[in-house]
Amino acid sequence: MPLIIDNNFKSTVRKSFDQLFFHPKHQARSKSDTYFIDNEFLMRPHITANELDYLARGYSQVLLAGRVFRRDQIDKTHFPMFHQLEGVVTRPGHLWGSDGVKNCYFDLKSILEKLAVYLFGKDIQFRWVETHFPYTYPSLELEVYFRGAWLEILGCGILHDKITTQHSKTDSLGWAFGIGLERLLMILNEIEDIRTIWIDTPQFLEQFDYYKLDTKFKANLMSESITRDVSFWISDRFEQNAFLDFLREAFGDEIEDVKLIDQYVSQHNGHESRCYRLFYRGINAVLSENEVNGIHDIICQKIGPRFGVVIR
Ligand code: PHE
Repeated sequence: MPLIIDNNFKSTVRKSFDQLFFHPKHQARSKSDTYFIDNEFLMRPHITANELDYLARGYSQVLLAGRVFRRDQIDKTHFPMFHQLEGVVTRPGHLWGSDGVKNCYFDLKSILEKLAVYLFGKDIQFRWVETHFPYTYPSLELEVYFRGAWLEILGCGILHDKITTQHSKTDSLGWAFGIGLERLLMILNEIEDIRTIWIDTPQFLEQFDYYKLDTKFKANLMSESITRDVSFWISDRFEQNAFLDFLREAFGDEIEDVKLIDQYVSQHNGHESRCYRLFYRGINAVLSENEVNGIHDIICQKIGPRFGVVIR
């Protein structure tokens, strides 16, 4: 099956959402989840739309990998840009046999289960969990039991007829799946902090062997995080994801996690107060308490004018 690295990051609302049957009110269409360039263009939030291009060009099956962009919370496992590997397998309807959908479903499950065994070893326990994607039915997630917890490793499903018939030249039936690659890497290589993957140092890459999937990553910074809280009254202008984006852009090397720890509306004047806890931990160097205080002061000064909040 061909593997194609697809670098068409810029996409459209029509391609990424409309043609994949995302409901007009689907959360992914909101500005707080997706990076919009304008009303028409956006940074692709998934690679599924690109798969349809390849079907339309005559591919019946293909693997695609590339960067996708999602606005998200800041924590050790989320980063606004990550890589997905997606695959699609289609065949003309009659080639799936008399019970086409059932055979297609069986193909999906057996191939992806083999993938789980390849990645995690033959003793791995896995389970299928039903879920929802706007473009597949049924839709499933594959979870593996790994070091004491069930972890979701991929999403998949049988593509809606409307999609396969519209984009493939023939009457066809098929299934597709998608995996977040950083997440997988973090699980397999015991990488705790996702920011580590994005630091471009030879020391990071040198730790891994191309043929050995489960090398344990050794972080060189073992310091504890230092926390500072910031409380403020918010205004209509405040949008949480924009605030988190700002922190990540300006201080992503120093902040590993941000949590909303308190929120209430004053009965007196109807204003809403929020308190966020910032977890500071340097990615390149250990931060001292003094350095953290300095950064925290700058943040407190900047967010007032920028987000129309009043620090308490
Ligand atoms: N696009 C889905 C995701 O981003 C994964 C997926 C791909 C699901 C293909 C079904 C079919 O999580």
